[in-house]
Amino acid sequence: MTRLGLGCMRLSSVGGPTRAEAIAVIHLALDSGVRLLDTADVYGPSARDIGHNERLVGEALDQWAGDRGEVTVVSKGGLTRRGAGRWLADGRAKHLTAACEASAQRLGAPIDLYLLHALDPQRELSTSVRALAKLQDRGLVRRVGVSNVRLDQLREAREHAEISAVEVGLWPLDRGAIRTGVVGYCADEGIQLIAHSPFGGPKRTRGLARHPVLATLADQRGVSVHALVLAWLLSLSDNLWPIPGPTRLETARDLGVARELELTQDERARLEAAFPAARILTTPIAARRPPDHADGEVVLIMGMPASGKTTQVRDFVDRGYLRLNRDDAGGNLADLAPILDQSLASGRRRVVLDNTYPRRSSRNLMIETAWAHGVPVRCVWIDTSLEDAQVNACQRMLERHGQVLGPEEMKRANRSDPNSFPPRAQLHFRAVFEAPTLDEGFVAVDVRPFVRRAASGQARAVFVDPGQLEAAHEGPLADHIAQGYLVLGIGWRPEGAPGPDSVWLGDIEIPTLWCTHPPGPIGCWCRKPLPGLAVALVEAHGLDPVACRVWGRGAAERGLAERLGARFEPLESVFAGSVSTVEL
Ligand SMILES: NC(=O)c1ccc[n+]([C@@H]2O[C@H](COP(=O)([O-])OP(=O)(O)OC[C@H]3O[C@@H](n4cnc5c(N)ncnc54)[C@H](OP(=O)(O)O)[C@@H]3O)[C@@H](O)[C@H]2O)c1
Repeated sequence: MTRLGLGCMRLSSVGGPTRAEAIAVIHLALDSGVRLLDTADVYGPSARDIGHNERLVGEALDQWAGDRGEVTVVSKGGLTRRGAGRWLADGRAKHLTAACEASAQRLGAPIDLYLLHALDPQRELSTSVRALAKLQDRGLVRRVGVSNVRLDQLREAREHAEISAVEVGLWPLDRGAIRTGVVGYCADEGIQLIAHSPFGGPKRTRGLARHPVLATLADQRGVSVHALVLAWLLSLSDNLWPIPGPTRLETARDLGVARELELTQDERARLEAAFPAARILTTPIAARRPPDHADGEVVLIMGMPASGKTTQVRDFVDRGYLRLNRDDAGGNLADLAPILDQSLASGRRRVVLDNTYPRRSSRNLMIETAWAHGVPVRCVWIDTSLEDAQVNACQRMLERHGQVLGPEEMKRANRSDPNSFPPRAQLHFRAVFEAPTLDEGFVAVDVRPFVRRAASGQARAVFVDPGQLEAAHEGPLADHIAQGYLVLGIGWRPEGAPGPDSVWLGDIEIPTLWCTHPPGPIGCWCRKPLPGLAVALVEAHGLDPVACRVWGRGAAERGLAERLGARFEPLESVFAGSVSTVEL
């Protein structure tokens, strides 16, 4: 018996082994002591072959001479397949129930361990996890778990079901996997951790084999790099179950080799030096974390792009902190770790890191780097809403470029100006964001809500969409003009050519800015509810946005008003009738 499992996915893939070869691989693994087989309903050569891999596993077990009762079969539900290569999440209770019933038919009930394959961003996690708990109550599955989760999601899942296993990707060259906190948390909580893709999958295995430290150590022991990696992963934690996916007898033989391979202390130390994230699993936190009052401080300032971090950073720089920022240093967030390392090694004791750090794993890298120099870390989280950060992004673009850039201009500008980014940069941050918590090892987490400075302008305006106006709106608009409001237009002409600079509604001239970008996912800052054009009008006319009004028919105008802090007024409420549409 070994903690090594066999990942069976690729035994059912296009170009993979024949059925007989695949069954021989499974038998070799079982004969080498493997007692865990990983499958899923969606593993198969094509979208039409749901259940292919489960049937293969069932057949191999039926034909195996050993004791089937000793083998744990792990299956998963919660994904569907569409066409070549498209795997879509479906976390509805209805789908999971039907999928599990079908898997149980193929594998025999109860399934030993059933996992939610991936989280469905369209559903509440609780819906999917409760569905798993019900399957367990019905006796269709013995144990349940989740796959491909972040730590906050795992914690949430545990509120709705007894999660006894977690499956995540874990391979030596991936800096993120251990740093997410999931692996250590599972070790602490006694949750089985199944490590999928331990070689990084077929595309990365060759890179792994060329790694100098791995290659040298494997050579010295006369084993393959793959066997060495498996033996090392096994040594990192008692609850860790690596499930490599060999598809040939030659490669599957390494399961038996890895099982027998005991690494020496020296070998483990050399591996840990090459892959320092492993230290998180092998060395208790008390031995890694410096006392909170130790000399020096690294302050990690984090928040969404354009959340207002720079303003906070200035204060630290004025107090003598060294500022490290990805935009200045170039590269990605992880590339700052060696720079922090060098700065602390050269004697700097106060450093402020000014970056987005949306993920726990990106923050962990900096925390552990600082700790290696005995320096504690504090987190300052600039908690700015997406809406406020969008306004900030547009204001910055106007300051730097004198205009709100379109998607193509943005791409060009972004090469030299990291502050000119498309709206999806902030959406991405929000999608992957994990709120910082003290248990990451921070001395403190200071949450600083974003506060917008009062506008310098005093004028006020009614923002309208000329395409929504009717002739009879002229009266209410004239009333507003009489009260000192400007009337300004924000229009959308997805045909590519802007409309006129001014639109006339009777005697009222409405200076108008146009978004000319096509429908579909928002790629520009100017399509409502994004505030690019409104921010440009605020600047151009010296407006106080809070004193402005946004007239409109729907969610886009309501959202725009929210971003500006202006008042939204539904068009029906300013004028109840309907006359002819305005000529543009
Ligand atoms: N939960 C999830 O979302 C999830 C995601 C991905 C994978 N998984 C599970 O994890 C399993 C493993 O994942 P994976 O297949 O992507 O990754 P992997 O095991 O890291 O990589 C598979 C590749 O490694 C090669 N390989 C395996 N053993 C080798 C050896 N001893 N020497 C040289 N090359 C070797 C295989 O080559 P050959 O084909 O030549 O043997 C194949 O190209 C899957 O089968 C699946 O069950 C789960």
